[in-house]
Amino acid sequence: MTLVVTVNGVPHERAVEPRLLLSDFLRHEVGLTGTHVGCEHGVCGACTVLLDGEAVRSCLVFAVQVGGREIDTVEGLANGSREELHPLQAAFRDAHGLQCGFCTPGILMTLVPFLRDHPDPDERQIREAISGNLCRCTGYQNIVAAVRLACGAPAPAPAPASPRA
Ligand code: FES
Ligand code: FES
Repeated sequence: MTLVVTVNGVPHERAVEPRLLLSDFLRHEVGLTGTHVGCEHGVCGACTVLLDGEAVRSCLVFAVQVGGREIDTVEGLANGSREELHPLQAAFRDAHGLQCGFCTPGILMTLVPFLRDHPDPDERQIREAISGNLCRCTGYQNIVAAVRLACGAPAPAPAPASPRA
């Protein structure tokens, strides 16, 4: 089948198998490997992208289902710029909201529509918003701090230095 879809504002046309997942289309056909694939079962949230502005798990969508629609991936957040991060990306950097970074693209793409709809969320709302995104590194504390920072809250205090042995 021929698929025509806009990804990060750029139109793409490809012949695809009906069984091809959107996550694999983005990574292997379009070359946007910022969309990560963890579980491929809709559980971990690593593959989250925007479909017409709303967060979806791209491992649960067939590529042929997005014909004529708009997809946004993490690569589009800063308009491809390495120098100018999206404010949410900058907040994650400044608040140490990531460690290995595997979960980060999915968390960012989950938070973009969430913050559009909830510009001043409290901690409970933030934790609920990312409750479908698994992170094995951070313990979530600094992710929440990063979201608060992106919303204009003061930067979190640095963690105390660990005592020397
Ligand atoms: S890879 Fe899609 S939810 Fe885990
Ligand atoms: S930063 Fe490693 S999984 Fe979240």
